[in-house]
Amino acid sequence: MKSADIRQAFLNFFEEQGHTIVPSSSLVPGNDPTLLFTNAGMVPFKDVFLGRDPRPYVRATSSQRCVRAGGKHNDLDNVGYTARHHTFFEMLGNFSFGDYFKRDAIRFAWTFLTERLGLPAEKLWVTVHITDDEAEKIWKEEIGIDPSRFSRLDEDNFWQMGDTGPCGPSSEIFFDHGPDVWGGPPGSPEEDGDRYIEIWNLVFMQFDRDASGTLNPLPKPSIDTGMGLERVAAVLQGVHSNYEIDLFQNLLDAAAKATGHDDTAAPSLRVIADHIRSCAFLIVDGVLPSNEGRGYVLRRIIRRAIRHGHKLGASEPFFHQLVAALDAEMGEAYPELRQARSQIEKVLLKEEEQFARTLDHGMGLLEAALAELQGDVLPGETVFKLYDTYGFPFDLTADVCRERGVRLDEAGFQRELEAQRERARAASQFGADYSAALELEGETAFTGYDTLEDSAQVMALVDGEGNALASLQKGQKGVVVLDRTPFYGESGGQVGDTGYLHLATGRFQVTDTQKQAGHHLHKGVMVEGSLKVGAAVTPQVDSGLRAATVRNHSATHLLHKALRMVLGDHVQQKGSLVSAERLRFDFSHFEAMTPAQLAEVEAIVNAQILENASTRIEHMSLDDAKAKGAAALFEAKYADNVRVLTIGADDFSIELCGGTHVSRSGDIGSFHIVAETGIAAGVRRIEAITGENALTHFQAQEARLLRIGERLKAKPEQVESRVESLIERNRSLEKELERLKAKLASAAGSDMLSEARDVAGVKLLAKQLEGVSGKELRGVLDQLKQKMGSGVIVLGVADREAGKVNLIAGVTDDLTGRVRAGELVNHVASQVGGKGGGRADMAQAGGSDPAALPDALASVPGWVETQLG
Ligand code: SER
Repeated sequence: MKSADIRQAFLNFFEEQGHTIVPSSSLVPGNDPTLLFTNAGMVPFKDVFLGRDPRPYVRATSSQRCVRAGGKHNDLDNVGYTARHHTFFEMLGNFSFGDYFKRDAIRFAWTFLTERLGLPAEKLWVTVHITDDEAEKIWKEEIGIDPSRFSRLDEDNFWQMGDTGPCGPSSEIFFDHGPDVWGGPPGSPEEDGDRYIEIWNLVFMQFDRDASGTLNPLPKPSIDTGMGLERVAAVLQGVHSNYEIDLFQNLLDAAAKATGHDDTAAPSLRVIADHIRSCAFLIVDGVLPSNEGRGYVLRRIIRRAIRHGHKLGASEPFFHQLVAALDAEMGEAYPELRQARSQIEKVLLKEEEQFARTLDHGMGLLEAALAELQGDVLPGETVFKLYDTYGFPFDLTADVCRERGVRLDEAGFQRELEAQRERARAASQFGADYSAALELEGETAFTGYDTLEDSAQVMALVDGEGNALASLQKGQKGVVVLDRTPFYGESGGQVGDTGYLHLATGRFQVTDTQKQAGHHLHKGVMVEGSLKVGAAVTPQVDSGLRAATVRNHSATHLLHKALRMVLGDHVQQKGSLVSAERLRFDFSHFEAMTPAQLAEVEAIVNAQILENASTRIEHMSLDDAKAKGAAALFEAKYADNVRVLTIGADDFSIELCGGTHVSRSGDIGSFHIVAETGIAAGVRRIEAITGENALTHFQAQEARLLRIGERLKAKPEQVESRVESLIERNRSLEKELERLKAKLASAAGSDMLSEARDVAGVKLLAKQLEGVSGKELRGVLDQLKQKMGSGVIVLGVADREAGKVNLIAGVTDDLTGRVRAGELVNHVASQVGGKGGGRADMAQAGGSDPAALPDALASVPGWVETQLG
């Protein structure tokens, strides 16, 4: 069976069992800050389990794309070294939201594995939680599992999504790949081998773990199961490693071709084949490589793949070439992948080019350190230097060490990291670090209001810790101070410029510019040649990034004014951050803005952009500026001669500002608000985009709309009405379903009547029903009464898992003088650990002893006979 067929067979099987097929969600969980990535099939249903997100179904099934790298479930380090770990995999799952529980979950899993997939029972092994007598009983007594292939485990049989959220005891099913493969059964010392592979995890969701660690019961016991598609494919395709299944063959071939390596069993090829899947899908889902959060994990995975390609001898960028093979393999099942293909290639190529430069240096240093190593532990300082100077993530160094059988001093690395953070904190708070080392007179002349390129002289060079240097060598990081510069130093919320300092025979890459004690500090790395104090350089600002930053900065001023117009004069700036990507503006306001207010603000700003008025820059005394009504930050200190910016038509916005700005408002292009949130009591935050970023955003939104349209077979303008009619149709199908259910119940009712008996001339039906919920009992009783015409009825339903009994009794009107329903139901209830009562013609009750129900119902004829006298 091919992977695609297994996926389909699974979904079909559960659809037949009344489950709704739900498409895979994004790898980035919506609105869930507790989770880095979607790491299990249940993640999109988290709120459904918690009872916060009602859905039109109580049974669902899905094939969910998952990433386990970083966060609670992190398999990154194992990938390449075992036959079954992946950063990306597909999880097949079935879910019950307060509907069925352990018995059905176990029965479904067993039937699917042994009957649908035809796996022999003697190749399977089952585990349950040490406390779970109930699940053990079902497995042993109802399924008939061989007790010698069964064990109870502790932590391994308790599953939780993250540090908080839904969780519960579980039951796992393992496949035994046979004695030719090394490894022992679960719970044995050899369990980490590849012989017994977990293929399916059935989680009996019962709790919600809160931040204090307390387990609170879920509204209703539920089911979450997960089966790794790749693992089960390996089983069905008779191979021992996931990497040998159909899905991976072409990826491995493509990786071999791209790296020029032809042994497809090489672990590095597996790493690459695995990583291209997580990297591509993370980019599909909107993650981009960066230095923090999700973006950093993505960067680490990409770099790990590149490193392994390097190890195989690849000297050119190769990783992005694999996207084509991945598209061929998975683009059919995931159209979003096909759609994003060229973007993924671009992102990966850029990252490859960037990393190639540092990889050579870093690997050289690491090789040298390993060659000189005494003992088998790589010191923390070396690991840190690689990380700090060459951008080698910790786990990349760990990966290389693991291959060489060398341990690394992680605690030492953490100490270095902390010390560096401390230095950075100190440096960012005070200029003293640098200026003490600089001992320079005067200030850097800033020429960047008028030009992006200049001629300048190097006044000082400093290393990362603030020590003065005479020169900077190729590969070295440091800070350059010039006599004059067009590079804007971070201030007033606007980030520092980036770009290059060119020399006749080399260049320094500026990754950030900061200001301290009047000096502009160009931070970065010497990428070519070397640099000495006194040298002449040509500083050149990255004009694209500067232009994008400027658009965002000027738009921030227009936004500030528009907010005051729409919300009122209480709006005060509380902070801002302006970068090339976006702008962030924090302001005082007491409640969330309405969509109408947001739309109005956006329209006002865009109208000002269209006015295309010239920006005016004036210098004047602080008092004059205030008299003009210029907005200023409360906390800020201003020199007496201030810079006043007027942007927009008819003096629309007047603010004190030292930043760089557009020369005409039209340069901003367009303005769009992407988020409005609360960040503290009485403080709101707006995030917005301008220019090209806004355009790209709209294009992506439109592409999304078109994709939705394609799925719905509707033009974009018809999508809304199509969704409406789908919802409508869904509603009517649900109604129809209710009607059919009632009809079925009524048909069953006719059969039941034949079981009624005669007691002293009165018709009596006392019966235990299956598969009817407490709520449905009432309807069944009413129909039976109607059909019977005259008689006495008592019905009971036992739910053994929940330890509950539901009872209902009914007496037709002609007999209520002789037998009372309330008394009848009480007679039965008292025997099943409950009590009840009610009217003479209808009464309901509950009980807690399902096992006693048959005897209790058997006692009814005698009781009725006595009543009838
Ligand atoms: N959530 C469980 C797991 O990931 C079962 O789906 O193993």
